[in-house]
Amino acid sequence: TDAIRPLIAGNWKMNGLRASAAEFEAMLAGAAKVAAKADLLVCPPATLIAAFADKARGSKNLKVGAQDCHQKASGANTGDISAEMLADAGASAIIVGHSERRADHGESDFLVRAKAEAAWRAGLTAIVCIGETQHQRDAGQTLDICRGQLNLSLPPAATSGNLVVAYEPVWAIGTGLTPTVGDVEQVHRFIREFLIAKFNGEGARMRLLYGGSVKPSNAAELMAVANVNGALIGGASLKAADFLAIAGSY
Ligand code: G3P
Repeated sequence: TDAIRPLIAGNWKMNGLRASAAEFEAMLAGAAKVAAKADLLVCPPATLIAAFADKARGSKNLKVGAQDCHQKASGANTGDISAEMLADAGASAIIVGHSERRADHGESDFLVRAKAEAAWRAGLTAIVCIGETQHQRDAGQTLDICRGQLNLSLPPAATSGNLVVAYEPVWAIGTGLTPTVGDVEQVHRFIREFLIAKFNGEGARMRLLYGGSVKPSNAAELMAVANVNGALIGGASLKAADFLAIAGSY
């Protein structure tokens, strides 16, 4: 799995205004330096996708993604945005099943799976998030929770080209806490074995991201762990200097 090209993805969550274009442009300018080692993806709020994608057009180094989509292509769904609309705006990937969507919007594994299939229907990559809560971890259920989410959230047609899996322990998100390198290694090995068992050679090549309090000071250590093929970054993806420093730690 060492030959898998890393993906450094930024999830801006509900942060960013049109004035944030300057920060995005700084990322675009710095992306060329890290392009030899990793792909970069920035997922701003939906309001900024089209403007950022226009700026990034033609860039092989940095692409623009979305944070969620509706599972349907169009219809009477007030306030929702379809994968087709995100593709039209210039997105190349969609994060689905983030723990904040699962927890705050009651998204089930079944819905997450439908959203991943919606991303594919629109020709986009699905970045499916999984991960245990503190309570589940304390109860020794980390691997069981991850297995259950993988089983139910990943559509059968997943390939190394259309699917990225992001492991984000919920307790590590935005807390400054991270699992030990040994814990990350254990969970990522478990996920890799699951993916190989289910998707054979494709599973061996799928990108497997770690997310949760990744920052410039811990990125090199986390990215060096076996079966970690990149990062999904929240807070530290808002500033070009931090985001590029993390990408440059490869
Ligand atoms: O999707 C990325 C995110 O949940 C991690 O957030 O702020 O801990 O890097 P943060």
